[in-house]
Amino acid sequence: MVFERMPLEDWFDKYQYEVDWDIGESGMKFLSLNDLGFELGDVDLRYGYHLGAPELREIISKQYRGRTAENVAVTTGASEANFSIIAHLVGKDDHIVVEHPTYPSLYQVPRSLERDMSLLHLTWEDDFKPNMDELEKLIKPNTKLVTLTHPNNPTGSQIDENSLMRAIQLAEENDFHLMVDETYRDLTFKDPPPLAATLSKNAISITSMSKVYGLPGIRIGWAVADRPIIEGIRAVREQMTICNSQLGEAVALRVLQERDEILRKMRNIMLENYEILKKWMDNQQWLEWKEPEGGVVAAPRLKQGGPTRELCKLLVDKYRTFVVPGYGLEMDEYFRLGYGGEKEELIKGLENLGKALEELYS
Ligand SMILES: Cc1ncc(COP(=O)(O)O)c(C=O)c1O
Repeated sequence: MVFERMPLEDWFDKYQYEVDWDIGESGMKFLSLNDLGFELGDVDLRYGYHLGAPELREIISKQYRGRTAENVAVTTGASEANFSIIAHLVGKDDHIVVEHPTYPSLYQVPRSLERDMSLLHLTWEDDFKPNMDELEKLIKPNTKLVTLTHPNNPTGSQIDENSLMRAIQLAEENDFHLMVDETYRDLTFKDPPPLAATLSKNAISITSMSKVYGLPGIRIGWAVADRPIIEGIRAVREQMTICNSQLGEAVALRVLQERDEILRKMRNIMLENYEILKKWMDNQQWLEWKEPEGGVVAAPRLKQGGPTRELCKLLVDKYRTFVVPGYGLEMDEYFRLGYGGEKEELIKGLENLGKALEELYS
């Protein structure tokens, strides 16, 4: 078993602090405690409940029709939910199917654990939507888990309700679990399909407060699932983190108590920024894309083809501008743009991107 670094995170770790214009980040602009105006002096810095504070689990469960606080495990980011569920459900003789591209840990964890894994490839031709006939072909008698991510990071594609229902039907018929990473679900342009965990005992929803709320520093995410899965997560995490940061939980609870208002603000920023990005894309000559349907990420590619590493490195070195090269997402010919940040930063970053494209390709 070998845990290797993920190229995406290596890129972030090297360059995210070395730039002035970040148009590669995958979430909304980061918030500070001052932005939120929370006073946290009364937070007890003891160990927390291993599945998250009851009040926090309760408020989360309200979003999931038919589920209660007992079905919620609050975790150290969606990353820990993802790791714990894979570690719990997929044993050494089992098989897992992972949609690709996606946030890399979803396939890197099974690789590190040396599990038998098949990739369900999203293609340009299919508008990066998962093809359920392809999924059906990949299922084996020992498949224990299938993971999907929608809206998808990095393509911004959104699974439609029929496909989601078909995936759930396959899960029920073939006795595997379907885990849907719904991290970007609150930032779709149109109404998204229902939350997976509300649809079936075989479905698991995971999500994060990192992206939609601009709060990756609190390291809070969660999973909603049937009790045996929640117990599995508890067993795994007791050997990793034990519980969440109590400061993180306190911030999460207060944010969720004001969820509707915060979400409304975030959605307005996203829609305004998206207009800027779309206009820019419509008026430039080097790139093509499939328009995202949600999330705050998109994955353009060069019209002339070829890898994007040189472009991304030039942007960092000369223009102090951050985007994510496709090699970090195992899609060399693309790169990731993020449009959740400050409007001025997006405008300036896109201007720099235009200059770098002209320098390399005109
Ligand atoms: C789809 C998706 N899932 C999970 C994660 C990990 O998020 P967290 O910060 O909650 O661990 C990311 C981070 O980029 C992501 O894009």
